[in-house]
Amino acid sequence: MTESTTEPARQNPAPTGPAAGPTSSTPFPQDRECPYHPPAGYAPLRADRPLSRVTLFDGRPVWAVTGHALARRLLADPRLSTDRTRPGFPVPAERFANVRQKRVALLGVDDPEHNAQRRMLIPSFSVKRIAAMRPRIQETVDRLLDVMERQGPPSELVADFALPVPSMVICALLGVPYADHEFFEGCSRRLLRGPAAADVDTARTELEDYLGALIDRKRAEPGEGLLDELIHRDHPDGPVDREELIAFAVILLIAGHETTANMISLGTFTLLRHPGQLAALRSGGSTTTAVVEELLRFLSIADGLQRLATEDIDVAGTTIRAGEGVVFSTSLINRDTEVFEHPETLDWDRSARHHLAFGFGVHQCLGQNLARAELDIALRSLFERLPTLRLAVPEHEIEHKPGDTIQGLIELPVAW
Ligand code: HEM
Repeated sequence: MTESTTEPARQNPAPTGPAAGPTSSTPFPQDRECPYHPPAGYAPLRADRPLSRVTLFDGRPVWAVTGHALARRLLADPRLSTDRTRPGFPVPAERFANVRQKRVALLGVDDPEHNAQRRMLIPSFSVKRIAAMRPRIQETVDRLLDVMERQGPPSELVADFALPVPSMVICALLGVPYADHEFFEGCSRRLLRGPAAADVDTARTELEDYLGALIDRKRAEPGEGLLDELIHRDHPDGPVDREELIAFAVILLIAGHETTANMISLGTFTLLRHPGQLAALRSGGSTTTAVVEELLRFLSIADGLQRLATEDIDVAGTTIRAGEGVVFSTSLINRDTEVFEHPETLDWDRSARHHLAFGFGVHQCLGQNLARAELDIALRSLFERLPTLRLAVPEHEIEHKPGDTIQGLIELPVAW
């Protein structure tokens, strides 16, 4: 399988346009003050919707898309590249800079390579396949809740529930032995928010080495799972090579693990902070499906998708020049008042399904059906089994993640 060429993007003079003026100094990303609301410091971006200038940690100006219609248009525009190895690709924080030298499957490649990769994986994520996984997800969730109940309150929900659910599910999906799940959790966490660039690099190398050895074992002794299918299935373009298999496994582990865990922990916290809405969920007045969709919109945990313009793009009365970075603030896009009435309110009765919490266009989340199933089962079972669930510490003691990574809680001490 060939890799896409990484033709250097043309660098342009400082951007101009109506949005280049008053908001040019708004830093992006910023930490949220409340884990489920966009940062107060994004107020100028709301005022400037749909497109603003923001400044990255290194002082570099990039465009920030904050309007729903414009986001859909630009996320579907092939002139915005997602190839992180292109010079000038926007980086949210210094510690991610080195990792960007490495090629990322799917999310890091443009069409036509992207399309070829995605086609290989789509069968494993079909609605039918995910429906077939539901009993196993339920079993996993029940087992974790059994342990929590047996050990009795208090419990730290991130470590005891929110992280193990997607971890076990993704290990089962890939065919990674569950015995290695702690190793994956550690690597994935260090990769996403390691304290220093070196730590991020080491985590990635360790994960790749492990997966390489696992793939070699699977070649010799076929097992069950997505990796085994990719190794042993006939592909029109020939066999998938070892490097590409490793890259698929890495992106699926990273993309499917911490995201879902953060949605479970932050979703639980948000429900506990909204007793009226929680009561409606408990009484059966709202379906978990509607609750999950609205939580995805409201929390917008992947807040700051990144792209690089490869050609000039005329939009919103201005020009995004080739070589300029573009970031998409999903928290603001999903609170666009043109699309969502009273967007600051958590409302199970709204139709939230057209939120962009899973992105849009060709890179729209491949695992969204799986994520929805996990969230549905995890949140419903948690509140059914532990109806008196509550925070075990004062709310202000609950730490959440910095703005430059996937949003979520670091720990969530609970009692019941
Ligand atoms: C609630 C949990 C999740 C959220 C909020 C989420 C969010 C997203 C978003 C926003 C994107 C698009 C990024 C962009 O365009 O820059 C994305 C892509 C992706 N997600 Fe998810 N995701 C979640 C769960 C999962 C799961 C469970 C898996 C798989 C096991 C997964 C696999 C992927 C992959 C492979 C891509 C890249 C797709 C491509 O480039 O074609 N995600 N996700």
